[in-house]
Amino acid sequence: MVTHDLIIVGAGLAGMRAALEASKKEGLNVAVISKIHPVRSHSGAAQGGINASLGNAAPDSAESHTFDTVKGSDYLGDQKAIGIMCSEAPGDIYELERMGANFSRDENGRIAQRPFGGASNPRACYAADRTGHAILHLLYEQLMKRGVMVYEEWHVVSIVVEKGVVRGIIAINLISGKLHRMRAKAVVLATGGYGRVFHNSTNAHANTGDGMALAFRAGAELMDMEFVQFHPTTLKSTGILISEASRGEGGYLINSEGERFMEKYAPNAMELASRDVVSRAEQTEIEEGRGIDGCIHLDIRHLGREKILEKLPQIRDLSITFEGVDPIDEPMPIRPGAHYSMGGIKADVDGRTNIKGLFAAGECSCVSVHGANRLGGNSLLEAVVFGRRVGSSASKYAEDNGLEDWVDSALPDIAFDIAKILDRTEGESYPKIRSELQLMMNSHAGVYRNSEKLEVAKKIIEELKVRYENIYVQDKGKVFNTDLLEALEVGNLLELAAVIVKGALARKECRGAHWRIDYPGRNDEKWMKHTVASKTDKGLKLHYSDVSFTKYEPTERKY
Ligand code: FUM
Repeated sequence: MVTHDLIIVGAGLAGMRAALEASKKEGLNVAVISKIHPVRSHSGAAQGGINASLGNAAPDSAESHTFDTVKGSDYLGDQKAIGIMCSEAPGDIYELERMGANFSRDENGRIAQRPFGGASNPRACYAADRTGHAILHLLYEQLMKRGVMVYEEWHVVSIVVEKGVVRGIIAINLISGKLHRMRAKAVVLATGGYGRVFHNSTNAHANTGDGMALAFRAGAELMDMEFVQFHPTTLKSTGILISEASRGEGGYLINSEGERFMEKYAPNAMELASRDVVSRAEQTEIEEGRGIDGCIHLDIRHLGREKILEKLPQIRDLSITFEGVDPIDEPMPIRPGAHYSMGGIKADVDGRTNIKGLFAAGECSCVSVHGANRLGGNSLLEAVVFGRRVGSSASKYAEDNGLEDWVDSALPDIAFDIAKILDRTEGESYPKIRSELQLMMNSHAGVYRNSEKLEVAKKIIEELKVRYENIYVQDKGKVFNTDLLEALEVGNLLELAAVIVKGALARKECRGAHWRIDYPGRNDEKWMKHTVASKTDKGLKLHYSDVSFTKYEPTERKY
């Protein structure tokens, strides 16, 4: 059996930042495991920026960043956690800079900062429109320099918890197809989001919420899963992200009548209102007949060729390659697409979950610093700040605790379940189940929701889960069986879709990204609380927990 002191699952920004911190502990045996090569992690697709109140473009403060984030969260974010993230942000950015992050510069040679939605000041530090890519590669280099063990292309299929304590994980080495028990004193989950529950999504195909689903099955609680962020600007044909930086740099959103329609919805912030507000505005324009072939136009032509090439080179390439539209000459057709999960594994500000020895960081966790709606530029920040904090707390836990015996491994059961899928020569097609799920989630649990659609969604998910029990794969081989991998991922999507829909049905109000047209308005009296989901013998159960306040009283949110 493989043994480490600490295993970190996921090699995006949060996972690698956690590993880097943990690797500073003398003598601690740390390993990272990821189903894809680390630099293919989805953090690399984050484009526009990472927030910190450096004040390089205009006077700024951690206080202002905290307030903007609390307001952006529609007052559901935990204010203490948000305060920690915003006050620690500048230190983390300078640390990345010292490691070698190639941030874009202003005319004085300082880190450049651009405006982003919902922010009172230009606060997003950036590397052109490839910010996530730059930081991801930097952290990978640092891990290699420190000689941290990385299991690349190993897929985790179970978190082993015995007597309420983590014992390790079970994972498939995708190259050999072999299942392995991997013992550890502590496990950190940093596996990213579940964007692929939805059809229109900015997320990589790998973003199937594996860590959340595994933790849930192992007894961890999931929090606020009904809050799904729809990014306002994703390419029409593919859902590929067109960064908020395009609006931060001055881009306009235009309807079929040639209007900058945001004037009606957010007269002060216009295109830089928070994402939930902009996505709803676009959806309303489309549904009321002012869309352009089911889309909206994002126009950056007036920025000029030079600025586009300097500040937004990647989005130009993406638009040309995937849409056949050069934004220097033509507006880009865009629409809202699933982008980010505000909810996740319930964790405290040091990543502790309700299971001893199990920690979570980054998008797969819910601390909660985003509440009902995340501000652009705060996801990379969360990953870096809490990656570091969780790396430190999990390694301390691993130092202070011994290796527990692994009494009754779940491996035979897992091997049996996988063998059943491989042995079946006919049955249900999992790609069909996946595509039915994704399309249905878009139409029934998307930007606008109501109880009728959500009830249908619940029923369809139950049916799909029954069909999933009888899936088969065409590839029966052992070596790099991506057919089997995808089949397992669909099981995770179904698990999480059920939690999203149950939370959405129960929450009878509009807050942030969760918009119930049958329950207009935010209802603080009844719903200023977190939804907490757990998997019990009697099925999926919800209860509620308090939101933490420091000094920001909830008020009506206007932009
Ligand atoms: O629009 C973007 O560049 C995305 C940033 C984010 O999600 O934080």
